[in-house]
Amino acid sequence: PLSRSLSMTSLSGVLPQWEDDQLPVEDLLLFEVAWEVTNKVGGIYTVIQTKAKITVDEWGENYFMMGPYFEHNFKTQVEGCDPPIPAIRRAMDALISNGCQVHFGRWLIEGSPYVILFDIGSAAWNLDRWKGDLWDTCNIGLPYHDREANDSLILGSLIAWFFKELTDQLGDKPNVIAHFHEWQAGSGLILSRSRKIPMATVFTTHATLLGRYLCAGNADFYNNLDKFDIDKEAGERQIYHRYCLERAAVHCAHVFTTVSQITAVEANHMLHRKPDVVTPNGLNVKKFSAMHEFQNLHSTSKARLQDFVRGHFYGHLDFNLDKTLYFFIAGRYEFSNKGADIFLEALSRLNYLLRVHRNDVTVVVFFIMPAKTNNFNVESLKGQAIRKQLWDTAHTVKEKFGKKLYDALLRGEIPDMNTILDRDDLTIMKRAIYATQRHSLPPVTTHNMLDDSTDPILSNVRRIGLFNSRMDRVKIIFHPEFLSSTSPLLPMDYEEFVRGCNLGVFPSYYEPWGYTPGECTVMGIPSVTTNLSGFGCFMEEHVSDPAAYGIYIVDRRFRSADESCNQLTQFMFSFCQQSRRQRIIQRNRTERLSDLLDWRYLGRVWPDPFDPEPNPEQKGYILTEGFRYPRPYSVPPSPSASLHSTPHHSDVEDEDDDEPYDEDEEAEKDRMNIKAPFTLGAVPDGKK
Ligand code: UDP
Ligand code: G6P
Ligand code: GLC
Repeated sequence: PLSRSLSMTSLSGVLPQWEDDQLPVEDLLLFEVAWEVTNKVGGIYTVIQTKAKITVDEWGENYFMMGPYFEHNFKTQVEGCDPPIPAIRRAMDALISNGCQVHFGRWLIEGSPYVILFDIGSAAWNLDRWKGDLWDTCNIGLPYHDREANDSLILGSLIAWFFKELTDQLGDKPNVIAHFHEWQAGSGLILSRSRKIPMATVFTTHATLLGRYLCAGNADFYNNLDKFDIDKEAGERQIYHRYCLERAAVHCAHVFTTVSQITAVEANHMLHRKPDVVTPNGLNVKKFSAMHEFQNLHSTSKARLQDFVRGHFYGHLDFNLDKTLYFFIAGRYEFSNKGADIFLEALSRLNYLLRVHRNDVTVVVFFIMPAKTNNFNVESLKGQAIRKQLWDTAHTVKEKFGKKLYDALLRGEIPDMNTILDRDDLTIMKRAIYATQRHSLPPVTTHNMLDDSTDPILSNVRRIGLFNSRMDRVKIIFHPEFLSSTSPLLPMDYEEFVRGCNLGVFPSYYEPWGYTPGECTVMGIPSVTTNLSGFGCFMEEHVSDPAAYGIYIVDRRFRSADESCNQLTQFMFSFCQQSRRQRIIQRNRTERLSDLLDWRYLGRVWPDPFDPEPNPEQKGYILTEGFRYPRPYSVPPSPSASLHSTPHHSDVEDEDDDEPYDEDEEAEKDRMNIKAPFTLGAVPDGKK
């Protein structure tokens, strides 16, 4: 693939001298700069990590990621090694000999990309000088108390310095392309451009600072996009300096991109530049060879969630785990932007509906959003300990019982069931049961919260009164930390957790893309999204009847908050009325949308930048443009019938129908119906 040539003209109008050349990829070096390289905060990490494989496949040894060095991240995720290119070694050495630490290695993720990581602490003594440079260059002053902005300037200054050394070393070739993500990487771009470093630059924004702040502040954002006095708004929120960095980076970049159409419109208003290209976020989709493998994974992960729930609700396990559904919301803790506010309100309404309809379904809802905590709380840990103790007790008694039964059978006798358990057995069983008595309700949160009384989720739980009482059909568990397989409480990683759930609920108000529902989709788990999220709009555009495929899109654009909340309640209530068989069919459909979200397709733009004869008239757009998944074969085409989405609840109770549903026939018909522009075989040679 390295022999293909890249036409820089298709990317930009204002490039360095070599812009008109047709450059073979081996004559180029590609650098991708982001605060989240090897450093997980939110979705930008997912973009970079999932895209690594296809980028390395294409760019090989000419691709490098850059970000901040954190000792723990380096030790756990990176294998140190020497740079393959002497000029990179020398550029790093120039910084190192001036007292700044720079580390090189391979990031241990799929594709094993090279990473260059800059130690911010080791260079912090330059901060005042670099603030002066920034001021002299573009009159942006950073206040001393904004640690994040100061750190981003240190990173940016180190990166611009590195690029200066590198391009001095390289001379004419290879040429350098540097792709910067988000405002935290912006100063690197601004300084590189102001120093006239000969390289092509791309800036991708994954949100705008003002958009995020204005939405979180309850502004009627989308109806007033053209009316905000943006300088004033930024000043009032004390983010003027950050906003200046962001806006300067956007305007300095040769190519400006963003992750969705909705953010493109927002950027035009908040940053006064229209993105040149919209590049929707993809995923690294792994297909499971066996058709129903992901269904089996759902089953095994769900069993682990059930175990956790057995412990968490000890003493209160009066609901049927076989009729319990698991819903969740996850992501950075932006309460109203992520829609946690309307989700809680809708859960309160759902609880009411399930109760008045005497529905026997219980819904356990997880909130996975990191907040400040002081570790797990005792009550949650105790719950898991008690569950383990009950398990051990049952196991011990079972062993003794089994031995006596075996001995009796050897003697040719049927044992006397009244005496097979002796007094000791009964005593340890009674003791174990007594230990499960509790005088409080199962806790809503798994951790000791530092801001318990002001925390928005907890405050709203108090307001709606969903305290996990016996009558409630909706139970709430707030886990204020990202999941990890090494947790002593819920030892599952995020992927395993998602697979075990039944429905992801992401009713965001502000969401430039929103990875969480997309991740559900590729794992075959239905989810709720909105028409204000980049992902939701993308699905609306490319799928004829998204709900039939398990993508429920809440209208948050043209309805009031209360109406959106009712719509969300209805989605969840209908979901609760589906039978197991219907849920299985729906999961099969959901999973069929995976191809649409695969980087193998989304990683390409058309006209293809690798096309040696591009048509300059055509603006860049992604390969899927204009393509739509049709309504699934078996769904009746009438709008009223499809209103409640996919399979309809039949009067015949088939909840016990546990057979993995063989939907192959429907799948096959659908496949014939779908003329995707991107079946794997259709991707031209060398472009996989
Ligand atoms: N996530 C995670 N662990 C968790 C919960 C969430 O790694 O326990 C990840 C999730 O996989 C997703 C990211 O957090 O990729 C959130 O990205 P999204 O684009 O949805 O929102 P952002 O936080 O960037 O606004
Ligand atoms: C998968 C498994 C089935 C299991 C089902 C549970 O499809 O293959 O054996 O019964 O998951 O689905 P549910 O929607 O009830 O969690
Ligand atoms: C931002 C956005 C999120 C998006 C992510 C990756 O953090 O909030 O919606 O998915 O970036 O682009």
